Amino acid sequence: MTTTTLHFRGDDEVHVWCADPSELERNGLIGPAHALLAAEEIARLRRFHFDSDRLLFLATRVLVRQVLSRYESVAPDAWTFVANAHGRPEIAGPKSELRFNLSNTPGLVVCAVTREVDVGVDVESLARTKPIENFDHFLAPREAQALRLLTAAEQASRFFAYWTLKESYIKARGLGLVIPLDRFWFTIQANRPPRVEIDPKLLDSGDAWLFAQLRPTRQHLVAVCVRRRRRTEVNVVLRWHHFR
Ligand SMILES: CC(C)(COP(=O)(O)OP(=O)(O)OC[C@H]1O[C@@H](n2cnc3c(N)ncnc32)[C@H](O)[C@@H]1OP(=O)(O)O)[C@@H](O)C(=O)NCCC(=O)NCCS
Repeated sequence: MTTTTLHFRGDDEVHVWCADPSELERNGLIGPAHALLAAEEIARLRRFHFDSDRLLFLATRVLVRQVLSRYESVAPDAWTFVANAHGRPEIAGPKSELRFNLSNTPGLVVCAVTREVDVGVDVESLARTKPIENFDHFLAPREAQALRLLTAAEQASRFFAYWTLKESYIKARGLGLVIPLDRFWFTIQANRPPRVEIDPKLLDSGDAWLFAQLRPTRQHLVAVCVRRRRRTEVNVVLRWHHFR
């Protein structure tokens, strides 16, 4: 267990913790990592077909446990989790005001942490070489229209910007793909935080949410979504976690 206890400076802060999953292998930590997991996590781990997916899952599980233990004096293996009906995990015990959300992609695992506030995070790798096809399927009509006005090179990065923002929103709501992806849309402008507009049928308001985009590495794009309290911009602190 770590001896330093981290705090939030104000209740509007979100800490985005990133880690390199390959560190577990490089540093000989695969065995100790397994020892931190609960029986159901080990069972899920065993169901993965590919080693690469198994490593990502293991790294994500260790990340959330070790990161949460930076804030509370709880041993990483003592955290228990419960998932909602749509698969979103939350802390079940020991009792804590911490909230978190997780995302992973080849080369990076991410854990966003807040105190009490709804949070969603998504990371995607920009290292894909295939052109983006059928983007209308994932975007709202206005986003697809905005994308068509861009060059092919700009389209790829804008598509991933929309994708990560949309995922961060549906994950902050905890509902996953129950929320139709064409019923909310983002406006992305240089030097301004992204803004969302939401179809009134979804019974939510774009003003209730704040978004930020981060580039923790050259090839990874992260979007984070938090429920708005007092601030007009999200106060994001990017941190790197090294597995131990
Ligand atoms: C499950 C989903 C919430 C995210 O899936 P994803 O992008 O494949 O995976 P990520 O790595 O970003 O996130 C997975 C983690 O989110 C968390 N999660 C799962 N369900 C969640 C939910 N309903 N709400 C919030 N978080 C959730 C879990 O911690 C999960 O990791 P775990 O299974 O190892 O515990 C859902 O949005 C999904 O299936 N998306 C499909 C991708 C897609 O088509 N996106 C189009 C966007 S344009």
